[in-house]
Amino acid sequence: MRAVDLIAKKRDGEVLTREEIKHFIDDFTRGDIPDYQAAAWLMAVFLRGMNRQEIVDLTLAMAYSGDVLDLSDISEYSVDKHSSGGVGDKTSLVVLPLVAACGVPVAKMSGRGLGFSGGTLDKLESIAGYNVNLSGEEFRALAKANGIVLAGQSASLAPADAKLYALRDVTATVPCLPLIASSIMSKKIAAGANGIVLDVKYGRGAFMTTAEDARALAQIMVEIGADAGRDVIALISNMNQPLGAAVGNALEVREAIQVLGGHAPAEAKDFEEHCLIVATQMLRLAGRGQRWTDEAQTHAMLQEMLESGKALAVFRRMVEAQGGDVRMVDDPALLPSARLLVPHHAPTGGYVADVDALAIARASFDLGAGREKKGDPVDLAVGVYVPVKIGQYVKKGGVLAMIYTNSEAKAEMAREQLARAFELSNVRMTPPPLVDGMISSL
Ligand code: URA
Repeated sequence: MRAVDLIAKKRDGEVLTREEIKHFIDDFTRGDIPDYQAAAWLMAVFLRGMNRQEIVDLTLAMAYSGDVLDLSDISEYSVDKHSSGGVGDKTSLVVLPLVAACGVPVAKMSGRGLGFSGGTLDKLESIAGYNVNLSGEEFRALAKANGIVLAGQSASLAPADAKLYALRDVTATVPCLPLIASSIMSKKIAAGANGIVLDVKYGRGAFMTTAEDARALAQIMVEIGADAGRDVIALISNMNQPLGAAVGNALEVREAIQVLGGHAPAEAKDFEEHCLIVATQMLRLAGRGQRWTDEAQTHAMLQEMLESGKALAVFRRMVEAQGGDVRMVDDPALLPSARLLVPHHAPTGGYVADVDALAIARASFDLGAGREKKGDPVDLAVGVYVPVKIGQYVKKGGVLAMIYTNSEAKAEMAREQLARAFELSNVRMTPPPLVDGMISSL
């Protein structure tokens, strides 16, 4: 089987067989297919698409391109979550301790930010000393001893995805349903969880811009998971305005700590609610029809975990176990902080009709919070804080956003983005729903 024939077959819109897909992925992972041929194949998939069976076959080939974790010695039934990526999305930082506080072990591997999307690992590294680079043994040992571990993805899991993602990133082939679905689900399947909650985002600050596209992505990911013997619930969630108020690594950790401790400010209440929704579904899976079947009751119990400080105590335990400086958890003012704070004021009074998540993400990126390519350094202290939400009234001169920066010149670039980010109106808009759909394999 020659790579060039598989490229041609997809270029001509034909359907690839399971053997052909597996052959291509295995050869590419081993280094027997060069990047230029893999890039051509990716573009053929981008332009021609894949049918359901091809997507399932691609996912499984990628999932089994390396190790597949077995977590059965840690928990009889383990749960995991994944977000398709958004702006201000620090959900894992809150949801994992919340679920662990209910006695369900969580062992999650996360990624770094790239482009406008932030990454959980960068956020965690705002806490001095926090070690995201754990060996497989360390990862398992912490999960067992502590009931919670949150670290970087092991290079031995789904190596095909790591190689393909790096190529997609530089060949304009990221926003493609079959490639996103297989990328996410191959990692989730390889990471070993029995139950998976997917947070599939749509809107300007997400890979999928419309709810319909997000629903189609969610549907195929749920089906792939079910085919691989996993229980999957996918939430379809809105990402037109940022989630919570904080966008930027240390700022997001501070906001997560506020929520974990039951002290979410008004502008982060949407984020708190989002976390409660995701955690409720994770517990629903973990309960397997025996426990946590009443969603309203589970939601109330989780809220109590925040208010009682139990979730924050679990987060603190996790930080300590992974070498992080817990003084930063106890006093978030010790987290990396920017030298300058520059307010962005409302030019007129009015109701907030729009907050463009992508423009906010770009502003944060311009300040140095994101990376253009893998390995670039990030400035953990900088970002944008948006204390307003769609539907809220703001007076003329009121603060629409606060820029946290270490450079006047970068603050100017961020201000140009922010000038485009807000729309004010005389009419009050109804705030968009946080979650507007769910697809489940149960
Ligand atoms: N997240 C992933 O892990 N992969 C994609 O392709 C897109 C989002």
